[in-house]
Amino acid sequence: MSYSFYFPTRFFVSNNISTDLPSLIESKPGQDAVLVLADQGVVRAGITQPIIEALANDNKRVSIFNDIPGNPDINDVEKAMRVAQDCQPHLIIAIGGGSVIDTAKAIAILSTHNGVTWEDLQWGRAKIVNSALPLIAIPTTAGTGSEVTHVAVIGDSKGFKKGVVHPSLFPSVALLDASLTKTLPSNLTAATGMDALVHGIEAYLGKRANPMTNLYALRAIKDIVHWLPEAVHHGENLEARKAMLQASSWAGIAFDQAGLGLCHALCGPLANHYHVHHGLGNTVLLPATLAFNALAINAEKWAPLRDALGLPTDAQPAILEEWATKFIRGLGLPTKLRELGVQPSSIEKMAQETLQMAMIGNNIRGASFEDCKYILEKSL
Ligand SMILES: [Fe+2]
Repeated sequence: MSYSFYFPTRFFVSNNISTDLPSLIESKPGQDAVLVLADQGVVRAGITQPIIEALANDNKRVSIFNDIPGNPDINDVEKAMRVAQDCQPHLIIAIGGGSVIDTAKAIAILSTHNGVTWEDLQWGRAKIVNSALPLIAIPTTAGTGSEVTHVAVIGDSKGFKKGVVHPSLFPSVALLDASLTKTLPSNLTAATGMDALVHGIEAYLGKRANPMTNLYALRAIKDIVHWLPEAVHHGENLEARKAMLQASSWAGIAFDQAGLGLCHALCGPLANHYHVHHGLGNTVLLPATLAFNALAINAEKWAPLRDALGLPTDAQPAILEEWATKFIRGLGLPTKLRELGVQPSSIEKMAQETLQMAMIGNNIRGASFEDCKYILEKSL
């Protein structure tokens, strides 16, 4: 097979972000304006303050915008953009989960594309032609992998979540500090960690998987299976938090290049109809999706996955559904769509919409409307 692998982001794992951050900023005379993007939860948790102090002590002019909700849309991007237009930053720093980092990617791009809106880029009315502003992405959850990917997913004016993909969207630096994730509540640690696990599994099973992405995906799966229960049940364990933060990035690197699959495809309409947390949606859909995909996993593909999951050598792919259900229960998360408020009446519509999701084409096994309906019904 022929394949390529491109990952230009500087990957920095830090034990003390306040010390390390200034060293990662290229100092140029007169270019000292920094825009920090965050969400209110991160600010309340006291995560932003030491970082802002470190920047101020490094003689940076710091502006802050922290009004970014979960699942941001173009109105949120416009609000952040107005702040960027006022402070004219030379550098963007994103501190938060995928919502904050994706918004920051949009601001980094729009700042170098006068007169272009994010919706123009979403719907192909304009193209990314310039480099983005430098962006340092500091994740505070171990899940989305946005700090290492070249995609930003933001709601358009009708609330439809639409991704923009371009090499200019790779952050300049992904700066990981596990201590920032210590305050994340256990239910969110579990849901975001499951998102990362599904990234790893779908990247590994995806049609576009290659030997490089498999390295990242399998190691991510192995570490998440080992460390996620510990991070959920003993959130103060920094070793577990660090392992999860790294594994989430590795799963991100893998899916960014290898693509995702049916579980994420099904999750799109589910999020549109019920606004369920992305990680929770993937969690609940995983067992039935794995049962469906198990039939397409051959012996060569199975052995490394079986080992990464820590299953015995005589285990067969058919065990995946039972394994996933048990793993999810161990994290204290729901395993059925009904627990998320999903009604049987919406199954057909969601199955139909799943067919429109590009990710379905990358799934290891082709899925029809009837297949999607079956998986959703089984997950109900
Ligand atoms: Fe995801």
